[in-house]
Amino acid sequence: MKTIVTVVGARPQFIKASTISRKIRNSYNEYLVHTGQHYDANMSDVFFSELKIPQPDINLGVGSDSHAKQIAQMMIKLEEVLNEIRPSLVLIYGDTNSTMATALTAAKLLIPIAHVESGLRNFDMTIQEEINRVIADRLSTLLFAPTQTAVDNLKAEGFSTNVFLTGDVMYDSLLFGLERAESVSEIVSKLRVIPNDYCLVTIHRAENTDNVQNLANIIKALASFNETVVFPVHPRTRKVIDQAGIIQPDNVKFIQPVGYLDFIMLEAKSRIIVTDSGGVQREAYCLKKPCITIFPTTPWVETVQDGWNKLADASVQSITDAYRTGWSCSDYGNHFGEGNAADIIIEKISRNI
Ligand code: UD1
Ligand code: UDP
Repeated sequence: MKTIVTVVGARPQFIKASTISRKIRNSYNEYLVHTGQHYDANMSDVFFSELKIPQPDINLGVGSDSHAKQIAQMMIKLEEVLNEIRPSLVLIYGDTNSTMATALTAAKLLIPIAHVESGLRNFDMTIQEEINRVIADRLSTLLFAPTQTAVDNLKAEGFSTNVFLTGDVMYDSLLFGLERAESVSEIVSKLRVIPNDYCLVTIHRAENTDNVQNLANIIKALASFNETVVFPVHPRTRKVIDQAGIIQPDNVKFIQPVGYLDFIMLEAKSRIIVTDSGGVQREAYCLKKPCITIFPTTPWVETVQDGWNKLADASVQSITDAYRTGWSCSDYGNHFGEGNAADIIIEKISRNI
């Protein structure tokens, strides 16, 4: 049996990898490596237990630091692991520092790389995730694109072989989780919110948190909403809220980050979603929830083109305008595949390694 090393490190990667890691061990010897980029129990452990993912075989325990130090630590530790295991393929997901550190380390060791969620672009190299994904794509052998737009982006950059349209593993995961969430999640009653009568919010991007004024504006805008707002606060955002002494508005419930099943239940029962998360904006689309994305651009253009997702900047005016003017959610397409992206990816891997 051939060996594959899968590397994950951040919350959305545990969710994405769950879809493939649950199945790939039937045909491959898989080592699951956790870089330790996310480490709080509610940012990491909860996903392994809930999503039935094998526990990581190795945890590099890197933790938080500046980008250069975090990436350097990951590379030093990954080099040792990859040299010891010498896999036939390294599997990476998305666009975090864990993704790029793995791509650089594996490429230097001449180990083939498969990148899941390849080809996404904001067309802005000042965004950390764009740097990570452009480098990861450039160094990868197999490029698994979730959407036709992502395929087109790769073609436009000159990639001509080994680009595969697979659908989105995040959509696979949502389908897997929804039924279980319906039967086990009690979050809606625990929070005493009324289904279809609240707004769900997540904010964590550096652009909206490192600049305290932007975060203060976002929270001020939420305070003007005429409905309850449920806001599971990412640790990065919590740090800024605490340091800046931002007060929780009366209609807003700041809560700890929640597990995946609770979160998708909160999405499914919400009236509207406000976010800057890549994953949450497409989950909103797949669940047919109107969404405001607080970011100047999105690689998930289909959600905007179909009228479900509006982009706003981090000003009170822009967010409240988007909130008040209503949605024209006219179209809905299966842009994210049929819920079998993981099967397609495993099949392509088996033909190419
Ligand atoms: C990272 C990714 C981002 C992704 C997000 C998913 C990069 C550059 N960014 O952003 O693309 O959307 O994960 O959630 O890789 N912290 C904790 N506990 C944790 C994790 C983080 O307290 O378990 C705090 C630390 O103060 C840390 C900060 O959050 O410095 C930021 O964490 P980091 O992993 O560097 O970036 P994210 O904002 O989580
Ligand atoms: N999510 C979660 N609990 C939360 C907030 C989000 O399980 O409290 C899930 C959400 O369903 C989505 C993923 O985390 O699948 C998105 O991750 P995140 O927003 O951290 O990262 P991004 O997608 O922006 O990279």
